Amino acid sequence: MLRTLATTGLCALAAACTGTVDAQPPAPSAAGTHGAAPMTEQIERLAGMGLPADPTVAPKGVDPKIWASTLPADNQPSAARIELGKKLYFDTRLSADNTVSCATCHDTTRTFTDRRPTSEGIGGQVGRRNAPTTMNAMLLHSQFWDGRAATVDDQALLPIINSVEMGHKTGDDAVAAIKDDPEYQKLFQDAYGRAPNYQDVGKAIGTFERTLVFLDAPFDAWLAGDAKAISDDAKAGFVLFNGKGRCMTCHPFNGSNPLGSDGRFHNIGVSARHQNFTDLAKKALDILAKDGSEATMDELALGGDTSELGRFIVSRIESDIGGFRTPQLRNIAITAPYMHDGSMQTLWDVMDHYNRGGEANPYLDGGIEPLNLSEAEIDQLVAFMVTLTDKRFADQNQQDLDAQRAHAKDNRPFREEDLASRRRLLFEKKGK
Ligand code: HEC
Ligand code: HEC
Repeated sequence: MLRTLATTGLCALAAACTGTVDAQPPAPSAAGTHGAAPMTEQIERLAGMGLPADPTVAPKGVDPKIWASTLPADNQPSAARIELGKKLYFDTRLSADNTVSCATCHDTTRTFTDRRPTSEGIGGQVGRRNAPTTMNAMLLHSQFWDGRAATVDDQALLPIINSVEMGHKTGDDAVAAIKDDPEYQKLFQDAYGRAPNYQDVGKAIGTFERTLVFLDAPFDAWLAGDAKAISDDAKAGFVLFNGKGRCMTCHPFNGSNPLGSDGRFHNIGVSARHQNFTDLAKKALDILAKDGSEATMDELALGGDTSELGRFIVSRIESDIGGFRTPQLRNIAITAPYMHDGSMQTLWDVMDHYNRGGEANPYLDGGIEPLNLSEAEIDQLVAFMVTLTDKRFADQNQQDLDAQRAHAKDNRPFREEDLASRRRLLFEKKGK
């Protein structure tokens, strides 16, 4: 039997995490560093989830051709590669001060994220972006909010050498920290037939991540014909999702897009609240002209205000300013807070943002317009999104939904009915 996945802390809604993105994260608990559960506890929790899923076979509901296309030719999955990747995922030696592993920010007891607005890395440094879950990430068209890495294999190599995350100076430094461990020598040999090296670190972690498949939700049971799998409100919400809400234009659900993401980049007006884009874009271009490497892009994305430029840092196309890759909506109710900067606490905040037509800025996507949704319709859209959580997290899904609903009762900072109904337009000042 699968164990119950109880909530270990709903940071998103805890007093310490409310307010702006600059809010202080909770103090690291004595039990684990940077607020994460201890690695032994995390590994135990993972063992109760019925994994690994066999990555050589397409998961239910995913087109086998699509799945095959996510497996790199030079890194086909094997049991040895999964085992090596799993050990690396939980190993704090991959950080310069030995306090941070992948699982610190993608914690198996916290739905494979950290439940903070933005993440804390070595030395207590807080980055500028929200940590997405590693659940199902292998199926995304690209990795990171701005798509700056192509696959989970490529992605895994960047946090290890990012100065605010795991802080090793180079990949070789990270390898040096583990290469004398006889267990690793054997695991690398079994997995890739050679001694520990940095490229294989990424490949092995990517292979492990390909086992983190969480696609068995009530929504899927309903699509498969079980009429009782979701509520009438959720069904009405799905109609709104595809119609009046216009959500499916960017969040499609089908065999090719099982996660509810078109894999494209859109400015929906989240960062517009904070920044002067033109000055920031000039600053980023100056830095990239001197050094356009992946590592520099990674620092620009996490290290400062340039983070808000989004896809522009990667593409250097003006219309990509403030654009972010459409995130997956799978397991969305249990992975708050929301958006690239973790600035929204509940799904009601997200709905209020869309209902008012986002936030005005020159690069706002044409698909974002006032929606004129009623409160009842907003509740239905939330009810639909809650059906996207994997059944293994059913208890936590209910707990998080209850907590979000309670929080939203008195906290709706993005709600603007005048904008939603076009009584006032985005560029008009309040009170006119
Ligand atoms: C200090 C916290 C932290 C650590 C440590 C960390 N991550 Fe992340 N992770 C993040 C943040 C924040 C993002 C989003 C950054 C961005 O998009 O610019 C992210 C993004 C990702 C993504 C992309 C998911 C998506 O939806 O695009 C994957 C996959 C991932 N991390 C896996 C890993 C792996 C594997 C490791 C270990 C090698 C790791 N992370 C270490 C915080 C962390
Ligand atoms: C024009 C494309 C577009 C449309 C239309 C759209 N979204 Fe999004 N959605 C995005 C992008 C891009 C983000 C991330 C934006 C950011 O972080 O700056 C996002 C973020 C989200 C998030 C937060 C995900 C997370 O992990 O933080 C949710 C929930 C969401 N959208 C639901 C919806 C719903 C419901 C609708 C319809 C009412 C909708 N979206 C319409 C593109 C879109």
